[in-house]
Amino acid sequence: MAYPLIQPHGGTLINRLLSGAALESARECAQTLLAIQLTDTNLADLEMIATGALSPLTGFMGAADYRSVVHNMRLANGLPWTIPVTLAVSEEQAVRIAVGDQVALAEGDKRLAILQVTEKYRYDREVEAQHVYRTTETAHPGVARLYRQGEVLIAGDIDVIALPARAHTEFADLRYTPSDSRRVFAERGWRRIVGFQTRNPIHRAHEYIQKTALEIVDGLLLHPLVGETKADDIPADIRIESYKAIVDAYYPAARVLLGVFPAAMRYAGPREAIFHAIARKNYGCSHFIVGRDHAGVGKYYGSYDAHYIFDEFTPEEIGITPLFFEHTFYCKQCGGVVSLKTCPHDSTHHVTLSGTQVREILARGDLLPEEFTRPEVSRVLMRGVGVK
Ligand code: ADX
Ligand code: MG
Repeated sequence: MAYPLIQPHGGTLINRLLSGAALESARECAQTLLAIQLTDTNLADLEMIATGALSPLTGFMGAADYRSVVHNMRLANGLPWTIPVTLAVSEEQAVRIAVGDQVALAEGDKRLAILQVTEKYRYDREVEAQHVYRTTETAHPGVARLYRQGEVLIAGDIDVIALPARAHTEFADLRYTPSDSRRVFAERGWRRIVGFQTRNPIHRAHEYIQKTALEIVDGLLLHPLVGETKADDIPADIRIESYKAIVDAYYPAARVLLGVFPAAMRYAGPREAIFHAIARKNYGCSHFIVGRDHAGVGKYYGSYDAHYIFDEFTPEEIGITPLFFEHTFYCKQCGGVVSLKTCPHDSTHHVTLSGTQVREILARGDLLPEEFTRPEVSRVLMRGVGVK
């Protein structure tokens, strides 16, 4: 008997991957169409639309959904959705594309999908930046990416011939689609599963909030993001290696699944927390961890803005239950990882290191303090900074 896992967002798990005869004819047809070259972020979005990670989306957003998402944090039908998922092209490309056309979506000379063009519309990047990112400063990496995009958005459903090459070449063993993770959860008899989003190597504070959350559910989906990140983030391969270095030694195999999340980072803080939660609902998670400064960058968001934004929705319409964590760290007096909520001691007892301090210690060839990072992870990070 199938376990009653949480419903996908909007009620149906989307699958836009073609198969059989439809796949064969689409492959031929795509060769004859005008091709749009996808960006790294478009490729991630395509993979997630195709596999249902962005259910109920079936393609790139039209104007009604786009405007509603930007201004009201909902799709035009009212369903919560906080991040635009759009396909931008230049003016020059746009004049060659008409509503009603089919176009091919390409990665180099490979045609990955056919897009049924149902709309072509202009948008205001500053308005999107202000609403989605709460800033128009180009020092913000999400805003900078938005401002590099073309001026026209092309919308429509996609029919996918093949996933981007990375789906076969990068972390293929960990690339569970939402239907894969749902199958694994059901096989293991898990009903309540907590998802963990990260764009960093694993630290003790992460381990603490993951395991604290796991105490109250059946299973933990460790779900590091592997799509595009900003240049000074630690690269995805190091991030994943850090997890592989400790999962077997410190996590119970029967309760944990390590998978990768194909999304690109937006650094949209609170709005991205909702987006991350909804996507993990599609993967079958009933709960989602939101800690300090979730998906934040610089000083653009308050430490707990990503908690407060959940108050803008009813629990029923979000569906997945957020588990909120305060800032956590090791306290020498307490003798363990604690949070501002659970520790009475002042900061002189706390082990905290800045990113710069971390890099300096690793570059010297020293391990980070064990209270901060497990030695297995320190060694992975050292290789990351070029220390043998
Ligand atoms: S990100 O996607 O949110 O940018 P990051 O790796 O920095 O990824 O954090 C992963 C998750 O752990 C987020 O939910 C974040 O809020 C939470 N988190 C990270 N560090 C801490 C910490 N020291 N205390 C509490 N929560 C934390
Ligand atoms: Mg962070």
